[in-house]
Amino acid sequence: MTAFKTIGVVGAGMMGSEIALEFALAGYPTFLSDQNRAAAERAIERLQGVIDRGIARNFWSAEAAEAVRRNLAAVDNLEADADRDLVVEAVFEDEALKRSVFERLDAILAPEAGIASNTSSLSITSLSAAVSDERRCRFLGAHFFSPVSRMRLVEVIATADTDPAFADDVAAILTAIGKTPIRVKDVVGFAVNSPLHALVIESIRLVEEGVCSPADIDAAYKLGLGHPIGPFELMDNTANSLSQSVHEILYKAYGERFLLRQMVAAGYNGRKGGRGWHRYDKDGKRL
Ligand SMILES: NC(=O)c1ccc[n+]([C@@H]2O[C@H](COP(=O)([O-])OP(=O)(O)OC[C@H]3O[C@@H](n4cnc5c(N)ncnc54)[C@H](O)[C@@H]3O)[C@@H](O)[C@H]2O)c1
Repeated sequence: MTAFKTIGVVGAGMMGSEIALEFALAGYPTFLSDQNRAAAERAIERLQGVIDRGIARNFWSAEAAEAVRRNLAAVDNLEADADRDLVVEAVFEDEALKRSVFERLDAILAPEAGIASNTSSLSITSLSAAVSDERRCRFLGAHFFSPVSRMRLVEVIATADTDPAFADDVAAILTAIGKTPIRVKDVVGFAVNSPLHALVIESIRLVEEGVCSPADIDAAYKLGLGHPIGPFELMDNTANSLSQSVHEILYKAYGERFLLRQMVAAGYNGRKGGRGWHRYDKDGKRL
């Protein structure tokens, strides 16, 4: 048994809904909130497709669906989290919004409860300033990867104020739900995004210089390096605008970089829009 018995997840989008799913699958009573109850309920309904696919591919047993039904519930708003032991925040990547969520959580949670932010790019130290001095020792980053139900890695980012015992407890519950936590300092890009985007940027440069096509670079990474997906396929799947904003953040922190402006300005945002580095039909199938 881990230090946390009940879990709250705030933000029922792509990340938050699957984070909640993972805790519920592992047997933790988990409560999911969004801007209103209907949004959280819709997110739980959408998870049925993820569960069905997981069972079909033998990731999970049929009892998994039952565990989720038993353990996962939508709540009206984050104020329902007053008696949670750990709350994971996964709202939009907007510092002011996240700070207001942390202030509200800080006001209602028991003193021994903790907060973990799933931010990809904001400073955990800066976010932690939104909570009281007393709570700061129980505040850290827990950066999950998409799709959460498939990706095992979670970066655990402590600040100078985080109690090491709290970070150990969070790492322990992440292990208990089947994830592999790694400890990372609170630096821009943490441990994964900066090297990932260095690779992405270098790949874009090769296309600009006419060395190789996006399709050939994707093939090179998959067939030559054993990556499950190529950099251009990855950008198209997650949206070029997301890569652009990550590049801008890395650029501010680390200096000169190629920014993905042309593609985004042209509206070639990736799979969802039908065109990115590759072209897709209306069902998102690669042409
Ligand atoms: N998408 C990724 O690949 C990825 C990977 C790792 C981390 N993250 C981070 O996870 C977080 C969420 O990203 P996402 O892709 O799930 O976004 P998303 O847009 O799919 O979901 C965000 C959710 O937050 C909800 N929300 C907004 N304001 C709220 C409020 N006041 N109270 C409750 N809910 C509120 C929205 O309604 C929405 O459902 C971001 O910080 C993002 O940087 C994303």
